Order: sequence, then C-alpha cells, then structure tokens
Amino acid sequence: MAFVNENYCNLKESFLFADIAHKVSAYAEAHPDKKIIRLGIGDVTLPLAKCVVDAMAKAVAEMGVQSTFRGYGPEQGYDFLHAALVKYYASFGVTLESDEIFISDGAKSDCANITDIFSNANTILIPDPVYPVYLDTNIMCGRHIIYMEGKPENDFLPMPDENVKADVIYLCSPNNPTGSAYTKEQLEEWVAYALKNDAVILYDAAYEAYVTDPAIPRSIFVIEDAKKCAIELCSLSKTAGFTGTRCGYTVVPHALVRKTESGKEMELNKMWLRRQTTKFNGVPYIIQRGAEAVFSEEGIKQCRESIAYYQENARIIMEGFDKVGIKYYGGVHSPYIWLQCPDGMSSWEFFDFLLEKLQVVGTPGAGFGKMGEGFFRLTAFGSRENTIEAMERIINGLKK
Ligand SMILES: Cc1ncc(COP(=O)(O)O)c(C=O)c1O
Repeated sequence: MAFVNENYCNLKESFLFADIAHKVSAYAEAHPDKKIIRLGIGDVTLPLAKCVVDAMAKAVAEMGVQSTFRGYGPEQGYDFLHAALVKYYASFGVTLESDEIFISDGAKSDCANITDIFSNANTILIPDPVYPVYLDTNIMCGRHIIYMEGKPENDFLPMPDENVKADVIYLCSPNNPTGSAYTKEQLEEWVAYALKNDAVILYDAAYEAYVTDPAIPRSIFVIEDAKKCAIELCSLSKTAGFTGTRCGYTVVPHALVRKTESGKEMELNKMWLRRQTTKFNGVPYIIQRGAEAVFSEEGIKQCRESIAYYQENARIIMEGFDKVGIKYYGGVHSPYIWLQCPDGMSSWEFFDFLLEKLQVVGTPGAGFGKMGEGFFRLTAFGSRENTIEAMERIINGLKK
C-alpha cells in the first residue's frame, strides 16, 4: 500500500483566480457588448527587451553548431551569469561570491524547494496577507505555521515581536500583494531578531527592480550581518518580463550556518548546492544568455524602460484614487496598488461592484489571507490605454 502525503489534506482549495475567471467569463457571456478591463493580473504584458532577444537568438545559433553546442550545464548556473549578477549586486552596494548565487527557473520554485533544507520541527512565521506559495509549501511539509498581521496600523509591514518565537521567517519586500516596502531601519530590526533567535529569514526580493528610492533596500544583504541570517530569492519575471521565459536566482551566503536537531553545524550554501545538484539540472543555456543580457548596461537600460512604463501606470492608478479619496498602499516601489474597499465593502463585494458596474477586474484582497479582507489589489501591468480608461470609469463610478 502506497500512502500519500497526509499534509495535502490540510491545503485549502485555491479558488481565488478560478473564481475570478468564472465570474468574469459569466459576466462577459451575459454582456457581450461590454468592454472588460483586466487590472487583476500579476503577469507582465510588455515584450522582452531587444538585447535579451538578440542574446537568446545568438545562443540558439550556437546550439546548432558542433563547436559551440552545449549539453548539461552546471546545476547552479553558468559562470557568465554569476559574474553578471555579482556586478549587479555591487551596483547597490552588496558584495557576493559567485558561488553564493544559484540560478533557477524562477523564484516560485526556489521558494518552494528551499523548504527541503530546513527541519520540519521549525516554527514558520508568515505575513498575512501573503504571496500564497510560502504558506502552501509549508503546509505540504506539515510545518507549524504562525502569522504576523499586515494592517493599516503598520502600513502592511509587520515587525518582529520579541514574545513570538519563530525559526524561519518569510519577508517579501516590495510586497505582493500590498506593494509596501521595508526601510533599511526596519530590516535592521528583522536581522537583529533573526540573529538573536538563530532564525533564518527567507527574503523574497522579486520586485526589487521597482524600488525608486535609494533609501529602500533592494537586497537584504545591504544590512550588516544579514549574510549570517538570510537567504535571498529573486526573479527576472518582473525585472525583465521573464514570466514565460523563466529564470531566477537565490543567494545563500557562506556565512549562513545553523545546526541540525542533533547539533551538527551545517553551512546552508553547501546544503543548497547538494540539494540542487541532486534534484535540479539547471536552467537552459539559451535562457541564461538572455538573463546575462538583462544585467548588461544596455539590458538594464532597456528593462528600466518597461518598468518605467508600469510605474507610470501605477502613478495613474494612485492619482485616480487620490481624486476619489480612496486610501491605498504600495504603488510607489511596486507594480501593486492595495486599496481599502470603499463604503465598508468586503473584498468580493467590491470585486462584484467593479465588474458589474464598471467592467473593471481586480483581485479581492481576501484571497491573500484573512487580513486581506476589505482590501483589493490592482496591478500596473495593463496597457496605458486600459489603465487610463479603467481609472476614468472608477473615478466617475465612485464620485459621490
Ligand atoms: C512575491 C513573489 N515571489 C515570487 C514570485 C514568483 O516569481 P517567478 O515567476 O520567478 O516564479 C512571484 C510571482 O508573482 C511573486 O509575486
């Protein structure tokens, strides 16, 4: 008899995006004459930068020539991409060894797989509202999970509580879904907490490229001693439009050392290397050449143009909410605008109102955790034209 993983029984069905899709298609079918604008998606819409496409095309050609063909590559990524990332991190003041960087097929996989190197005995601290992958991957391992509340009182940036004992802590900054970003001082507090408690911070920096203020850290490693207590997960998805191309990276510093339950000291970098070389066979050469181009001078410039386009969309959305007096968070260092539903509406009531009255689609905050109830997420990833039109509809629809 093969028994299956009991922990899967504890996962809640994820109805959020299925429910949204169902409601939107039912509405579209009943009202074929109405133009629906979707500002709920967490996916980019602009194409890859030209220099990225050129680099991948060149790599494709290399694969068709005997002398430049490549088979299996290093599981942890090619040296040329490590070198590009070492230089990129140096540009915001972080010094990394190239073997502290592991190239992956995206941050979602690494967020999930990193659970492999931690004991199931750990207590996991997760923010609420949250990117659902942190929660579900830990439920799958049967771990003890505790929550920290993101709410208007803390600007959706929960801070450490000395009375709470956590071993592994997930932080996401700039945050999905709330768009809020920790300051350097706030991250210093988290690092101090982690060091004091021998905890490890899993720092998700998937949206670092949206940070516009040099005072907001783009990496947790700008904080002194963070290398002794943090792993950073990052992605090219929102930095360079790689959601369909797939590439990310995880930084596991050599200074990060913790004990097993039996007291044996282990370097987490070595554990992750062992894990990756056993269970992962690397990201395609062609994709890594494209990723290398992202971090070239020209690539950074071209990707910045797409990010600036989304940031202008975010500004248009925020300006609209200012006009109708709706309180919102995020939008500045993030493509996400997290707003308080007007007139005491619940997340789903506001969803129905926007869809049925204004034909605009967003994401109900309640789908990101119980603290998301009464809030709503819009994204800046739509086209300029649709963003402007959606905000005109919202402004007119909410004017008293
Ligand atoms: C906070 C956060 N982390 C990680 C990811 C996953 O990114 P990737 O496309 O690299 O898997 C996302 C994607 O939406 C995200 O919002």
